[in-house]
Amino acid sequence: MFFAQSPFERLRALLADVAPGAKPADLAVGNPQHPQPAFVGEVIARNIAGFGPYPPIGGTANFQRAVHDFIDRRYRLDGWFRETGALVPLNGSREGLFLAAVSARDLLQKTAPTILFANPFYQTYIAGAHGIGAEPVPMATSGGILPDWDSVPAGALDRAIAYYFGSPSNPEGHAATREDWHAVFDRAERHDFLIFADECYSEIYRADRPAPTGVLEAARERPETLPRIVVFNSLSKRSNLAGMRVGYLAGATATVAAIREFRNQAGPQVPTPLQEVAAAVYDDEDHVVANRALYDEKFADAERLLAPRFGSVTPQGGFFLWLDVEEDDEAAALRLWREAGVRCVPGSYLAATPKGGVNPGKGRLRLALVADAAVTRTALARIAEMFARAPAA
Ligand SMILES: Cc1ncc(COP(=O)(O)O)c(C=O)c1O
Repeated sequence: MFFAQSPFERLRALLADVAPGAKPADLAVGNPQHPQPAFVGEVIARNIAGFGPYPPIGGTANFQRAVHDFIDRRYRLDGWFRETGALVPLNGSREGLFLAAVSARDLLQKTAPTILFANPFYQTYIAGAHGIGAEPVPMATSGGILPDWDSVPAGALDRAIAYYFGSPSNPEGHAATREDWHAVFDRAERHDFLIFADECYSEIYRADRPAPTGVLEAARERPETLPRIVVFNSLSKRSNLAGMRVGYLAGATATVAAIREFRNQAGPQVPTPLQEVAAAVYDDEDHVVANRALYDEKFADAERLLAPRFGSVTPQGGFFLWLDVEEDDEAAALRLWREAGVRCVPGSYLAATPKGGVNPGKGRLRLALVADAAVTRTALARIAEMFARAPAA
């Protein structure tokens, strides 16, 4: 069992005694910085009395309505999920991703359980495994979103209780197609595990590409799969409300009931006024369209400035560049800080090194395009300029 050290702690240590070569630009942390919807403060003020009593763990009626409406509208489900599924509010999707591992263990009751995820991965997947004493199994991919199933150690699939599947993925920004989802459903049925669909980047996709489908859209074609699926979503990226900490998990009624039962004893409720804000925010799509346009503008800059050196750099979804710099990623991140004042995460910090193999983040940098367009453009120009120079010998 391994418990990965935070990539941000490692980055802090790497850059600790090094002065930035220009005014610092932080492209390391995926901290959304676009404007939040203008009506947030007003909704909190209107519901301020709701900070008094304990909030309902299962969500207010308005929260339930708004999220069901959102799911139905976004994934064109014609009321199917509203009739078959259930959801609960979360304090951001991270705590739900972590706590759901406990329910996976209890629901499947396998001996020596494993938890699957693609390598590189989001740190909470490992924390989920660690929390229940399961073995984390980072799976190799061949550059796409699906794992290379044959590379998974013998027995690890049969002992799996959950597969954390991010779409769009962090850091690569790959988005699952309908066929990808069906391939995951096939495996989940064959080996009897749950699918934890991490869709917190689902609303951040490029305007000129087809919108990433969600797991529920694919599940509608195979309703018998629904009891295996838990989908996690959040307002952190969609609505630039990462600090508000509100999201939801959704799935088949019985699966969600099991998770809610555990959360009822272990999890923090989402404050009622914030559930009301969330309802208003899920009801509004205009700010989401505007938010995507801001990312599109920055990815256009990235393409213009970096494609001549690196080829196309624009991902299908999410807000990260996953730059193949073809040199040691730690050395490149250090150089970028020292020579250009740009802070970014070495790719190998976001992935595990397989026994006797190569860390799939090696030679990559993760750059979060979360600052405003001007700051981002300046940082991208400095990145382009630095990589145009050869590293000092
Ligand atoms: C892949 C992925 N999943 C989940 C989360 C959790 O987001 P939140 O707890 O803000 O919903 C993040 C946050 O950065 C993430 O990158």
